[in-house]
Amino acid sequence: MYFFKLYFLLWKNESFPQIKLSVLPLVLLFFFLSTDDGLQKVSDALKVTLKRRCERVTEGPDKTGSGTLLHRIYTDLYIIEGQNKEFCFQHEVRQVESACKKTLCETPISCQEIFKVLPDQQRPIRVVLTYGVAGIGKTFLVQKFALDWAEGLENQHISVVVLLSFRELNLVRDEQYSLLELIHVFYPTLQSVTAEKLTVCNLLFIFDGLDESRLLLNFNNRKLVSDVTQKSTISELLTNLMEGNLLPSALIWITSRPAAVSQIPPKCVDRMTEVRGFTDSQKQEYFRRIFRNKELSSRILSHLKTSRSLYIMCGIPVYCCITARVLEHMLTTEERAELPKTLTDMYSHFLLVQIKKKHKYHTGQEMSWQQLTNADREVLLKLGKLAFEHLQKKNILFYREDLEQCGLDVTEASVYSGVCTEIFKRESVIFQKPVYCFVHLSIQEFLAAVYMFHCYTNRKTEVLQNFLREDISSLEDFLITVIDKFFLIESGHLELFVRFLHGLSLKSNQRLLGGLLGQTVNSPETIQRVINNLKEITTYDKCPNRTINIFHCLMEMNDLSVYEEIQDFLKSQNKSQKKLSGIQCSGLAYMLLMSDVLDELDLVNYNTSQEGRQRLIAAVKNCRKARLHDVWLSENHCKTLTSALMSNPSHLRELHLSSINLEDSAETLFASLGQPNCRLETLRLVKGICCYF
Ligand SMILES: *[C@@H]1O[C@H](CO)[C@@H](O)[C@H](O)[C@H]1NC(C)=O
Ligand SMILES: *[C@@H]1O[C@H](CO)[C@@H](O)[C@H](O)[C@H]1NC(C)=O
Ligand SMILES: *[C@@H]1O[C@H](CO)[C@@H](O)[C@H](O)[C@H]1NC(C)=O
Repeated sequence: MYFFKLYFLLWKNESFPQIKLSVLPLVLLFFFLSTDDGLQKVSDALKVTLKRRCERVTEGPDKTGSGTLLHRIYTDLYIIEGQNKEFCFQHEVRQVESACKKTLCETPISCQEIFKVLPDQQRPIRVVLTYGVAGIGKTFLVQKFALDWAEGLENQHISVVVLLSFRELNLVRDEQYSLLELIHVFYPTLQSVTAEKLTVCNLLFIFDGLDESRLLLNFNNRKLVSDVTQKSTISELLTNLMEGNLLPSALIWITSRPAAVSQIPPKCVDRMTEVRGFTDSQKQEYFRRIFRNKELSSRILSHLKTSRSLYIMCGIPVYCCITARVLEHMLTTEERAELPKTLTDMYSHFLLVQIKKKHKYHTGQEMSWQQLTNADREVLLKLGKLAFEHLQKKNILFYREDLEQCGLDVTEASVYSGVCTEIFKRESVIFQKPVYCFVHLSIQEFLAAVYMFHCYTNRKTEVLQNFLREDISSLEDFLITVIDKFFLIESGHLELFVRFLHGLSLKSNQRLLGGLLGQTVNSPETIQRVINNLKEITTYDKCPNRTINIFHCLMEMNDLSVYEEIQDFLKSQNKSQKKLSGIQCSGLAYMLLMSDVLDELDLVNYNTSQEGRQRLIAAVKNCRKARLHDVWLSENHCKTLTSALMSNPSHLRELHLSSINLEDSAETLFASLGQPNCRLETLRLVKGICCYF
């Protein structure tokens, strides 16, 4: 009001006409800033928009499309302060397996306090980077944060929250915008926010899903953008924001899968947090929340606890959701079928349940696989092809062109309301350019495996040739070549795919998916030969932690022999009397990795071959003291050791090595000693004599 009065006086004063005109905008501006009224209005309007955007979620595969209330199903996630660790494209299931074990020293952080400065931290937290594997709930987390803000519950000191996903940003990646324009494009509600207001208000940017970014974030380009009205590429806007050149007081929260974290230099990040999914009690709470029926939820939980791999996978919320759907359907609608015990079982049933539901929805009738129409089958196989081709390229998002290349009809009829609605989610986006993806990477891997198996049974030699570079005759041939291929490629992105392929060779799963895989008759003898092959694979210089996947393949083939032998072995008194085979060592390594942190791993205590000792190196990660005698360390073995030294948390305090090729291995090891996570206190190197067998 004061400014109005002043202006009124000036206006009255006839002798200052020029002043009047020049002062008018200034006065208005002051008026605007002096009362926070304008900002409050904008903030309120934004809250309405954000509430609408975030209050409902389509969790995993959902048929209705309308979604569930986030508040109803949101179960707290386990988040901890992470460290700047070295990331690699290691298979994400493996990460969940190791993540599900908690260590005592971690203090969980609540989602609402993600920017809160802890007592022992000096500088304010401006940029937070939260990482976690696919489907672990990062998007739910930021939605929950935004929703609580929009509903006036939390973090009310922030006046504007700009929530953007990299999926959305991909759509404008070739455009030039100023930051202000960018905000206006995605949030028309904020149209009235001016450059001045933007620089003074408390602003939070949330950028969700860095791993899905098709922008090239280049922090080395020195183009400085410091003005919110300066036009620039999207990538430059983001890098300048993160570096604090642009809006230095704005808060920034980025989420990402671990593999993409390295795109942002650590110096730009004030806090790293890791989402670790559900703890055991959170899993239980989740099932209680989605099934109001107490008896059902406890039956599902008790079944899950009987299968270690299924229970571990439930640490990933999206996987909990898949499991819940399948088991609910089987326990409530079907006549007593045996409940799935392996991952392949679970995914086969999942596909089946989805398609059955779809048919029932359209025709009101139950169907069986025999009735699967040719059209359904064709669409599923095309999806499999898409899944497979993009898995090879490590691609998880698809655009219209990608679908068309696999012969998929993009019209709503075939993809959106066809049989695949529930496994293939159409991302809602602006600009009418839809982005597609499978609801979870593991679904992509499963469909890719189904497609590959189909190609094998139907003798599509060209596809097999392209992938495996070899002529395939028998099932044994096929699966052995797949394993070879798996070891040949550097990264672990085919890990689940390989497991699924083995699982699909079983009669039980072929019966379930019969119509899709084509006619196959694998005699029990053939299956036994495949199992024997798996047990006999030699793995001299292969990465020890990846050899564990062979053990998982056996589990998928329902061969529990190794698992049981190791259980017995662990219980036995005189361990060194039992000679362990290579595959038994992989099984043992897996179980040691899954158990509580070991005080000591001493290879002398295990009666095994050179190869067996090498395979046991995988377990080093989970012990405080490791004595590795008589091992030939290849480059891959050293990498596993260094990754154990640099892992977060790293338990290893003492390492004794005696190896014949010490010169080569020591160098790599020394390099990891200076890393921040490494807590090694004693390193003892003895040049040893290596006995091979
Ligand atoms: C352990 O030692 C006892 C007696 O020395 C023997 O009877 C038993 O067979 C041994 N067990 C194994 C697994 O070698
Ligand atoms: C290792 O196992 C084999 C076979 O069980 C046994 O003959 C041998 O004595 C064992 N070696 C040691 C050092 O215990
Ligand atoms: C497995 O080994 C690779 C290197 O060979 C490493 O990058 C990765 O982090 C390891 N994973 C685990 C779980 O130890």
